[in-house]
Amino acid sequence: MSSSAERPQRRLTTLELIAMKERGERIAVLTAYDFLMAGLVDDAGVDCVLVGDSLGQVVAGEDSTLPVTLEQMIYHARAVGRALKRALLVVDMPFLTYQISAEEAIRNCGRVLQASGAQAVKLEGGHEDVASTIRRVVDAGIPVMGHLGLTPQSVHRLGGYRLVGRRKEESERLRADARRLEEAGCFSIVLEMLPKGLAGEVTREVSVPTIGIGAGPDCDGQVLVLPDMLGLNEGFSPGFLKRYADLAATVREAVGEYVREVKDGEYPGPEHSYE
Ligand code: KIV
Repeated sequence: MSSSAERPQRRLTTLELIAMKERGERIAVLTAYDFLMAGLVDDAGVDCVLVGDSLGQVVAGEDSTLPVTLEQMIYHARAVGRALKRALLVVDMPFLTYQISAEEAIRNCGRVLQASGAQAVKLEGGHEDVASTIRRVVDAGIPVMGHLGLTPQSVHRLGGYRLVGRRKEESERLRADARRLEEAGCFSIVLEMLPKGLAGEVTREVSVPTIGIGAGPDCDGQVLVLPDMLGLNEGFSPGFLKRYADLAATVREAVGEYVREVKDGEYPGPEHSYE
C-alpha cells in the first residue's frame, strides 16, 4: 500500500470543502489570474483558488466587472488551471453569460469547465430566476458556488459598492436567498460586504460553507483579491482589507534600481554576459 507521501497530489473537491465546514476547519480562498501567481498561492496552501471577474479591474484596469467576457475568463482560467496541484479551482461566470436562460448558462458554464479544467463556477445572486438556473447547471453536473450580498455585477442596481443587509428587509431577503441557493445545490456561498452578525447567522443556517469578504470572522472561510492583499492595488483600501505585503513598493524599488543600473551601464555585468 502506498503512503500518503507517495500518492500523487490532487486537487481538493467540492465535497472536501463541505467536509471542512463539518469539521469546523476554516477555508482559505484567494483569487488568481495567471500561471505564476497561481502556482505560488497553491504552494502556500490555499484551499481554493477563484479566477474572479475582478480581473476586469485588477488585470484589465476597467472600473467594474461588467465588461469582462467569457473568452477572457477562459484564457485566465486555463493559465491558473495549469498551475494548481492541490487547490480547488473555481471560475467566475461573467455578466450576461448565465442571466439570459438556463440553456445558455449550462452551455457557458460547461465551456468554462471543458476549456480550463476548472472544477466549479461561481454565479452571483439569489433570487428565484438565478436559483432555478443554478439548479439546472448543477443537474448538468457542474458544481456552483453562489455569491450574495454585494454582487458586483449588480453594482448599478445596488447603487454602488456598499455594505448590504443592514436594513431588516435586505437582511431577511439575504437569508432567504442563502437558503434558496443551498436548496438549488450550491456547494458553497460567497458572502460579500455584510454586517458580521448577519454573515454569522447565514453561516449557521446553511449546511454548505460560506466564504466571506468584508463579512466578518464568523464565515466558514475567507476570500481576498490577490493583488489587494499583496499590496499591489494601492488605490483600493476598504476597511476589511488586510495587506499582507507591500509589493507595490517592492516592485517600484526593484524597477527603479534596474533603470538606474541600465542607465549607468552597470547591468549587464560580466556575470550576466556570454563569451
Ligand atoms: O471577482 C472576484 O474576485 C470575486 C471575489 C471578490 C469573491 O468575486
